[in-house]
Amino acid sequence: MSSEPNASVPPFPAPAPADPASPHPFAGIVAMDAERVIGRDGFLPWKVKEDLRWFRRITTGNTIVMGRTTWEGILAETSPTFAFPGRHTVVLSGRADSLGADGRPAWPGVAAVCGSMEDLLTRTRAGEFPGAVIIAGGARVFAAAMPYIGTVYLTRIHATHPGDTHMPPFERHFPHVREAETHAACTMQVMSRV
Ligand SMILES: NC(=O)c1ccc[n+]([C@@H]2O[C@H](COP(=O)([O-])OP(=O)(O)OC[C@H]3O[C@@H](n4cnc5c(N)ncnc54)[C@H](OP(=O)(O)O)[C@@H]3O)[C@@H](O)[C@H]2O)c1
Repeated sequence: MSSEPNASVPPFPAPAPADPASPHPFAGIVAMDAERVIGRDGFLPWKVKEDLRWFRRITTGNTIVMGRTTWEGILAETSPTFAFPGRHTVVLSGRADSLGADGRPAWPGVAAVCGSMEDLLTRTRAGEFPGAVIIAGGARVFAAAMPYIGTVYLTRIHATHPGDTHMPPFERHFPHVREAETHAACTMQVMSRV
């Protein structure tokens, strides 16, 4: 039995465009299971269609930021230009070969490469990226970005899965929790600092 969205729950805020003056200019989006697993062998450990739909709904029209490991996992499954239609894709990488000789991202479909969290923050605050700037993982990127995230769009995957990548603890900084959708396989929550 599922509800989409749950009619009894008040509407939740869509991610707001990044506010350059805010100490928390980013949003975050993650799916984790009951034991905090988020990845296995470079991939998502599950395929939950409601979560894929939720991810598309929250991120479309906005900027998504992911680590090189996550991006390369996606490249193994799909063509870079088809990975995230309607979204501005930013990859975090410190590797010199993430940029071509012309200084542009080495991967087609990637709008920008940021070499550090400071670089991402500076360019976000300068208004370089359209819409909300949404941190999309993986674990190393979440750990570095969490102090700058104001709202987390969390999918709780109900089952447990074998995995090698876990979500760092973050919940105590996001005490304001609204349930947005409930499904047999997962529950979506919007968690904010205030
Ligand atoms: N369940 C979910 O919602 C979800 C979401 C996303 C990913 N995942 C899963 O998570 C796993 C990958 O996570 P991961 O933690 O291993 O890797 P990751 O965070 O995706 O990527 C790590 C890489 O990103 C770059 N990076 C990270 N922080 C950086 C910083 N502050 N400055 C510059 N570059 C930075 C570095 O790239 P360089 O080595 O190039 O410098 C680093 O090696 C995969 O299994 C993926 O499927 C799950």
